[in-house]
Amino acid sequence: MGFNPYEIRKDFPVLERVIDGKRIVYLDNAATSQKPKQVIEAIREFYEKYNANVHRGLHTLSQEASEAYEKAHEVVAHFINAYSWEEVVFTYNSTDSLNKIAFQWGLKNLREGDEIILTVMEHHSNMLPWRAVARLKGAKIKYVDITDDGLLRYDQLEEMVTERTRVIAVTLMSNVLGTINDVRRIARLAHSVDAIIVVDGAQGVPHLPVDVRSLEIDFLAFSGHKMLGPTGIGVLWGRRDRLEEMDPLISGGGAIKDVTLEGVEWQDLPWRFEPGTPNIAGGIGLAAAVEYLIRVGMENIRRHEEELTAYTLKRFFEELGEEIEYYGPRDARLKGGVIAFNVKGLNHHIVGKSLDMFGIAVRTGMHCAHPLHYRLGIKGTVRASYYLYNVKEDVDALIEALKTISKLKSALSSGEAPETCTGT
Ligand code: ALA
Repeated sequence: MGFNPYEIRKDFPVLERVIDGKRIVYLDNAATSQKPKQVIEAIREFYEKYNANVHRGLHTLSQEASEAYEKAHEVVAHFINAYSWEEVVFTYNSTDSLNKIAFQWGLKNLREGDEIILTVMEHHSNMLPWRAVARLKGAKIKYVDITDDGLLRYDQLEEMVTERTRVIAVTLMSNVLGTINDVRRIARLAHSVDAIIVVDGAQGVPHLPVDVRSLEIDFLAFSGHKMLGPTGIGVLWGRRDRLEEMDPLISGGGAIKDVTLEGVEWQDLPWRFEPGTPNIAGGIGLAAAVEYLIRVGMENIRRHEEELTAYTLKRFFEELGEEIEYYGPRDARLKGGVIAFNVKGLNHHIVGKSLDMFGIAVRTGMHCAHPLHYRLGIKGTVRASYYLYNVKEDVDALIEALKTISKLKSALSSGEAPETCTGT
């Protein structure tokens, strides 16, 4: 059967909700996705039928839980075409993965005077850990700028890379501009000077077909909750040789083969990087989410979101052109389904709260990318973001609501921004 978002919607119970007589138009997928019943059921089944700790018991329940948890690593490995499931480390989320890469790899391998290249479009999670490690090791941070269209300045990046470059850390897809970066091109550049490339896949992996081998990257981080899985489970993928260049920073039970009063022998990959009792239900839920995405097909999801994005941008420019300030590439082929904008003359939080009155959920603020907003010279944006279950009618609802909000501008502009949203 072909891709049908109307059929897909039936798997997502929350999309049936009606609030104040209006159906939910969920356009906050870049913050977190909704969950299909297959994922909810997989988690429920674990707790109802085989809940036990993993790798710690010889009894049947523990064996079943361990098997399911290990299989979840295999499912994720297959999804991103990892060389082996042992390269897949479960973490709590992308932030956790990126911190673990920066500290576990960076503390051991960076030296004074080394250079780390980041971009101005990075989420704080792919910026702050590197800055912290750079401070500790005496390394220097450089930032690549963007063009007026929100694309990465590859010309500047090429000039920035030198023999001192040890790390290039870049997002696969901007969580604000939606820009999809040419990660393979950046990987080749990094490897030309023996640097590593670390990719923040929090926004990219849920929406694009991702193959770590063909991207030629060293590390990838992503979160389960943005790709139909539960919160509290994330992935740190690293090429085996890179993972072997790191020592566990956080240690304890489960991460070791043996401990004496003098020393420690670490467990095999990936367990040495998963200390303590892991998020077992989260791993099982993530595997169910990945299986769901594989069944639907990542190429289909990408095509669908590209169509929704192209349709949105066309209507934005044709019908709201004078009213809207849009940020990011104008060509849907260069970006994911993330649309950041402002209604001219209105605070972004006021627009977000007004959209909520139409039943439309978006995110407003700086989206944990403050430097990018300062680079754009703005204090925040309204962000609509799509996923596989969004339909053309959702875009229509957004456009019509924005037209109404724009007409009511003078009344709305006298209002204060709701305090609960400030500073985000
Ligand atoms: N990082 C997530 C976002 O961009 C939460 O909304």
